[in-house]
Amino acid sequence: SAAEKGGWSSFMAKEISEQPEAVANTLRTRIHDDHVVLPDLAGLEDSLAGIDRIVIIACGTASYAGMLGKYAIEKWARIPIEVQLSHEFRYSEPVLSPTTLVVSISQSGETMDTLMAVKYAIEAGAKTLSICNTQGATIARESDAVIYTHAGPEVAVASTKAFVAQIAALYLFGLHLAEVRGTLSAEATKEALGELSSIPGKLEQVLLTKERIQELAKWMSDSRAVLFLGRHVGYPVALEGALKLKELAYIHAEGFAAGELKHGPIALIEPGQPVFVVVPSPRDPNSLHAKVVSNIQEIRARGARILAIAEQGDAAVLPFADEVIPIPLAGALFEPLLAVVPLQIFAMELATAKGLDVDQPRNLAKSVTVE
Ligand code: G6P
Repeated sequence: SAAEKGGWSSFMAKEISEQPEAVANTLRTRIHDDHVVLPDLAGLEDSLAGIDRIVIIACGTASYAGMLGKYAIEKWARIPIEVQLSHEFRYSEPVLSPTTLVVSISQSGETMDTLMAVKYAIEAGAKTLSICNTQGATIARESDAVIYTHAGPEVAVASTKAFVAQIAALYLFGLHLAEVRGTLSAEATKEALGELSSIPGKLEQVLLTKERIQELAKWMSDSRAVLFLGRHVGYPVALEGALKLKELAYIHAEGFAAGELKHGPIALIEPGQPVFVVVPSPRDPNSLHAKVVSNIQEIRARGARILAIAEQGDAAVLPFADEVIPIPLAGALFEPLLAVVPLQIFAMELATAKGLDVDQPRNLAKSVTVE
């Protein structure tokens, strides 16, 4: 009903706007004196220090949160991590042992593919942790421990606020694990926690770009295909941007790792092809900014229309982009929490411009409880 939407045109619009609180509520009570405090992990207390490998399993949007978790947790906790789609996991005959931690990520906590993967992991003797948004959900109950995301109920079929909350929860877990393993200095932990705590305020700023993106989406509403490029943590953001556009606007959309362009996808570029590019910060310690800017030049020379999501004040992108959507400054690992928002809004606004139901896209279900 209109009342449930709190004045918003759709649950999706409401949930996109709730992302600052979704992150803030997920962090709340879990950071004290520059340390992560997660009583949620009690069920894993004895085993956490002995874990030597992590496998993250999830479907859809949650799997992209998982990919981001891999970048951050490997960096901080120096532990090998692989990310698998839940429905592929069992069939690869995964190598699991009591020192493997299987982390499942699920908004609903009821996705059958993920539940079956968790059960498989338990039977194989692995330890299990779930990141879940729904109190008492089946996957949460099956797991040794659960870190709840406190995004609040998500009604729109396509996930938005649960995604940023999942990233926040994974990052908290990563910083905690780094402390357990002694792999990160107190200074670096403090800095990362500061970055994380500043995300809700920065999300408020990103939400202000809504009207501009709405114009852009209207203008692009007859697009037949849209590409998304990103690198490092920008890559899962590109994948999520493409998924949102498929789900909501029924437009063929594909995300690529920018470095992969020259190995094939660049053949798709023809005059007028819209390409969203998630540009790393010019301050990026891996110097990926220059590489992505050079990718932009390559596809621009072939006629691509460049829609860049770039850090505020990034002057290097301006001459080559048809449109720049600015995001506030953040540490490299934290940019995805901000960069994904314009892409969510774009998909929603484009679907709206096409007259589609953004809360209930065709053929999709909020929670897929069949395999
Ligand atoms: C469905 C939804 C997606 C969601 C995926 C995983 O396909 O349409 O938006 O990302 O399930 O859902 P979960 O509840 O496990 O996070």
